[in-house]
Amino acid sequence: MCARIFQALNFGAYLNITFSRHQMRFFVDTADVSELEKLLVTGMVDGVTTNPSLIAKSGRNILEVTKEIASMVDGPVSAEVTATDYDTMMLEGEKLAAIASNIAVKVPLTVDGLRTCKTLSDQGTMVNVTLCFSAAQALLAAKAGATFISPFVGRLDDMGMDGMELIESIRDVYDAYPTLNTDILVASIRNPRHVERAAEVGADVGTLPPRVIWDMYQHPLTSKGLDDFMADWAGAGQSIL
Ligand code: G3P
Repeated sequence: MCARIFQALNFGAYLNITFSRHQMRFFVDTADVSELEKLLVTGMVDGVTTNPSLIAKSGRNILEVTKEIASMVDGPVSAEVTATDYDTMMLEGEKLAAIASNIAVKVPLTVDGLRTCKTLSDQGTMVNVTLCFSAAQALLAAKAGATFISPFVGRLDDMGMDGMELIESIRDVYDAYPTLNTDILVASIRNPRHVERAAEVGADVGTLPPRVIWDMYQHPLTSKGLDDFMADWAGAGQSIL
């Protein structure tokens, strides 16, 4: 009897370790509902991020499209304020947060944006602080209670810098203070290599344009290998079913 209890406890401990193990979450960076629908069937979508440019590109009303997206996924859906002053950011943020329980209000990394972040997070609202380009900014966002910090790696690369070095620096800063509860949400991702490097660094989330997710599946040797398997199987003259 004792052996069976010990075995059960051991299995429970194993499950706890396995399921508590941190993994990188994938958010989709889009306000295109049709693109999101195609990706949802892959099982790879843990959330969604939008921004004013993506909403404008969708051609749809921000409140309507945000509500629809929030109903399509269980995970966090980032919806960004468009004001730049604290009072109006708060009005917009509370209106966006009221759309659904999984809304994360997105605010820019400015003085007013972090004031808004502090007030909203104190109210229990998830906040995604965006347009982050330095570890100093990321430290401010964490002190303001941000749920997510969004460092833009691609735009730093566009300037000839190595955007992923910023992720490494933020990871070091946040890990130095375990009481900080802000997740690193790597944004402005341009290719699968960005995703690989973000995972190597231990970023919590990557927000991926739909194209990058589809590109992650692709490798020429996978395609060739499958073609070869199918060709050889066709010559075997047998069937599994
Ligand atoms: O969520 C931020 C992201 O949309 C910015 O990406 O490509 O405009 O730098 P990008």
